[in-house]
Amino acid sequence: MKLIKNTFTATLYIGMLLIQTMQATSKQDNKPLNVTIVGTGYVGLVTGACLAEFGNTVLCVDINTQKIIDLKNGVIPIYEPGLDTIVAQNVQSKRLTFTDDLASAIKQADVIFIAVGTPMSENGAADLSYVEAVARTIAKHINSFKVIVTKSTVPIGTGAWIKQIILDNGIKADQFAIVSNPEFLREGSAINDFLFPDRIVIGTSSAAADTIMRSIYEHLLNQDVAYVSTNVVTAESIKYASNAFLATKISFINELANLCDETGADVQVLAHALGLDKRINKHFLNPGPGFGGSCFPKDTQALLYTSQQYGIDIHTVLAALKANEIQKEIPVKKLLPLMENNVKDKIVAILGLAFKANTDDVRYSPAISTINKLIEYGASIRAYDPQAMKSMKTELPNITYCTSIADAVTNADAVIVMTEWDEFKAMDLELIGSLLKTRILVDARNILDPSILHKHGFIFDNIGRSCLCKLPLRNMSV
Ligand code: UDX
Ligand code: UDX
Repeated sequence: MKLIKNTFTATLYIGMLLIQTMQATSKQDNKPLNVTIVGTGYVGLVTGACLAEFGNTVLCVDINTQKIIDLKNGVIPIYEPGLDTIVAQNVQSKRLTFTDDLASAIKQADVIFIAVGTPMSENGAADLSYVEAVARTIAKHINSFKVIVTKSTVPIGTGAWIKQIILDNGIKADQFAIVSNPEFLREGSAINDFLFPDRIVIGTSSAAADTIMRSIYEHLLNQDVAYVSTNVVTAESIKYASNAFLATKISFINELANLCDETGADVQVLAHALGLDKRINKHFLNPGPGFGGSCFPKDTQALLYTSQQYGIDIHTVLAALKANEIQKEIPVKKLLPLMENNVKDKIVAILGLAFKANTDDVRYSPAISTINKLIEYGASIRAYDPQAMKSMKTELPNITYCTSIADAVTNADAVIVMTEWDEFKAMDLELIGSLLKTRILVDARNILDPSILHKHGFIFDNIGRSCLCKLPLRNMSV
C-alpha cells in the first residue's frame, strides 16, 4: 500500500512539474507586460526594481521631479541595502525606466501599481489624498484595459472606493480591474523580502487580472512561492492583520521585559525559550524602545480606526499601541536613576536615530521621543547615526549631529544606544568609556554584553535585563 502511495505522490509531483514547465514556457512566449509604478518611495522603487528583475518592463513615475532626475542619473533617494545595485542592473538592461509624466505612464501600462504615501492623519485614519489623486488621474487617461493594483497599505475597503472613483469618472467596469497586492517589505531588507517572500497575496474579483498578476510574478511562482488568491477586502485585511500581529508581538515582549526588570528575570533567556516553541518562533521577540517606522504605528492606528467604523473593538491592538507609547518612555526612565534623576545642563549622546538598523528612515522613530524628553528635562544632545542624520535634521534641527561614535560621546555625561546598528554592537567600550565624562550608558536594544560593560567600569541599564546590570552578577547565559 505504501509503495502505491509513494508512486502516486511521485507521479503527482512530476505531473505538477511538467505543468509548471509548460505554463512557464507558454507564458514566456508572451511579450513582457508593461508595468507602471506610481510613487518611487521605499516601497515603489523596490517594487519597480524587483518586478523588472523578474523580467517585466517597468516604468516608475513620481510627482517629485527631482527624485526622477536623480534616479535617471543613478542617484537613489533613499538608503536601502542593495537597491542601488538592482536598480542599476535593470536600468542597464532597459527593463527599468523613470518619468514624472504620469499621464503617459498610465497610457502605456498594462498594470498600474499605486505605491504613493498613505501617511497617518490626526484621527488615526490613513490619509488617502494621494491615492485619490492618482485614481482620478488614472481615470482621465485610461486608453485600454488596465489592472490597477494597490501596493501601498490602504485601509480595508479602499479597493472598492478606488473602483467607484474610476466609475464615477465615466470609465466602464470592463475597462479596468482592481487588485490589492499588499507588500510585506521590511526596511533594511526590502530587496530580500521582495525577491524571497513568504507569500504573494492577490485580492481581486477579476479572473483576467488574477492571470495577469500571476504572469507578473511568474518568476516567484516558478520558485513555488505560496500564492494566496482572494477577494480585494480579504487581501487588504491580510496586510493589516500581519502588521498588527507583529506589532502586538513586539509590545508583548516589551511588557514582559519591563516585568523582568522588576522580578530579576532575564528577558533574553525568556525570549529565547519562548521562541523555541514553533508556534511562537523566535522572530520579533527583541525588546527595545518601542516600534516605529512608517508602517506599524500607522497601520495599527488605521486598523483601529476601520474597526471603530464598523463598531468592532480590537482590544489587543489597542493594548499594543498603548504599551508602545509607554515603551518609548523607557530609555529616559532608565537613564534618570543613573544620573541622580537630573539631566539638566548635562550632555547626553544618542547613538542611533533611525527607527531600526539598516535604514535612513526616522518616521516615528523612538529616538525622537527620547531626545525631546531629554531636551524637556534640560539636557543637550549629541547624536550620531550611520545613515539617518540627514533625515533626522528635518525633524530635529536643533541638536548637535556628530561625525562618529567617538565624536558623539566625547565629554558626554551619558550615552543611550537607540538603534541596533552593527557599528554600535562592535564599538570599543574602553575607548568609549575613556571619552565619556562619566561612564553612564543605557542600552535600549540589548546589543551590548553586560559583563563587558561591567569590565569597562560602566554604570548601565538595558531592557529587561536589569538583573545583569547590578553587581554582584547572577550567573545566567542564553
Ligand atoms: C508608502 C505608504 O506610505 C505605505 O503605507 C505603504 O505601506 C508603502 O508605500 P513609502 O514608500 O515609504 O510608503 O512612501 P514614501 O516614501 O512617502 O514614498 C511615496 C512616494 O510617492 C514619494 O516619492 C512621493 O513623491 C510619491 N508621490 C506621492 C507621487 O508620486 N504622487 C503623489 O500623488 C503622492
Ligand atoms: C514592517 C513589517 O515587518 C513589514 O512586513 C511591513 O511590510 C512594513 O512594516 P518595517 O516597519 O520596515 O516592516 O520594520 P520591522 O523590521 O518590522 O520593524 C518595525 C519596528 O519594530 C521597528 O521599530 C523595530 O525596531 C521594531 N522591532 C522589530 C522590535 O522592537 N523588536 C523586534 O523584534 C522586531
